[in-house]
Amino acid sequence: MSQKSVLFVCLGNICRSPLAEAALRAEAVAQGLALTIDSAGTSDLHAGQGADPRAIAEARRHGIDLTTHRARQVTADDFLHFGHVYALDQQNLRDLRKLAPSRPTGGIDLLLDSVPGRTGQAVIDPWYGDARDFAQTWDDVALAAHHIVADLLRG
Ligand code: 4NP
Repeated sequence: MSQKSVLFVCLGNICRSPLAEAALRAEAVAQGLALTIDSAGTSDLHAGQGADPRAIAEARRHGIDLTTHRARQVTADDFLHFGHVYALDQQNLRDLRKLAPSRPTGGIDLLLDSVPGRTGQAVIDPWYGDARDFAQTWDDVALAAHHIVADLLRG
């Protein structure tokens, strides 16, 4: 298990968690932090598929290519390999806690708990929304990425 490793988990692994993965990768590179980063879904609804075209478009607005992403379902093994697992909303968190071993190696938390003033909030599912909802998703995950990197750099 690598302590400096983060897994983001949403429902489908095609909208929110791939954007969170991309935002954290960009922030870690910008801050010179070596970090293993991945994302997964609690469901296998979209396993093997690429990211949602609206997520790809939002990532592109920030200079990031999301076209190589392939969705996968979270596994029990993930809890042994990642130092931190972040759920994008409360339902994902409940589902992750059911799947996790009784003593997970790392932390399992709601993503926006890492942002001061946003504790307990969900990254809203943009699946039924439009480009503005995906832009809001980006703002939320980029803000969280900033705080996660700052926290890891502080040790
Ligand atoms: P995600 O978004 O969990 O952020 O990847 C969704 C993707 C697919 C569905 C719902 C949300 N779906 O109902 O298929």
